[in-house]
Amino acid sequence: MNASVPLFFRQFQRDFFHMGAVMPSSRYLGQAGVAYLARKQGPVRVLEAGAGTGSFTREIIPLLEPGDSLDAVELNTGLVSYLRHRLHTDVDFLPRPGVTINLINADVRSVASGQYDFIVFSLPLTNFPPPLVQEILSLMMARLKPGGVFSYVKYIFIGRFKYLFGGPQVRAHMDANQAIIQSFAGRYQIDRRAVLRNVPPTWVYYWQKQ
Ligand SMILES: C[S@@+](CC[C@H](N)C(=O)[O-])C[C@H]1O[C@@H](n2cnc3c(N)ncnc32)[C@H](O)[C@@H]1O
Repeated sequence: MNASVPLFFRQFQRDFFHMGAVMPSSRYLGQAGVAYLARKQGPVRVLEAGAGTGSFTREIIPLLEPGDSLDAVELNTGLVSYLRHRLHTDVDFLPRPGVTINLINADVRSVASGQYDFIVFSLPLTNFPPPLVQEILSLMMARLKPGGVFSYVKYIFIGRFKYLFGGPQVRAHMDANQAIIQSFAGRYQIDRRAVLRNVPPTWVYYWQKQ
């Protein structure tokens, strides 16, 4: 078993709120997350929000060409140490010469300047209180260049179970979050894909800033 799985699970047990998943995203989900980046033309700046153990990072790096850069932001210090080790030792994470990779141990809300051509986002928005969802999504869209693409993931069944079996407070929280996400989606969504080969199955949504 890949060492990232037990590490990820331990962090999930410690901090469900920020982790939001029991295991790292699959290779299939990683590939879906970077589907628009794979069609890039010319030099790009990429932001990865919630890099975890590197499921999306591993798919992003081979797509980058000399002059491109990636800022991979992750809040959890233990996961950042693990990912730093992977970046230094794992051939799957080896960038081409001339590609800049910055691994940043921080809250994504500290990304207060600069603009990106692609944002690959996997924070567990459904765990967060509505004002935080609003704050983070507003910031992400502000950090996206016109024409840039933002991809984010959302589990397909988990929300429904939570909604069915949660109390009125849980449902009100989920409704409020969904309304916020829908207001962004109504403005920006260009595509979505279901990835069934992931635990759990997941939607990937793509938003583009016109
Ligand atoms: C669902 S996991 C996804 C991890 C990884 N991208 C993957 O797909 O396997 C969410 C990740 O977002 C990180 N995270 C949560 N809130 C964050 C924040 N405000 N800023 C940066 N990272 C955050 C968590 O620590 C966790 O690693």
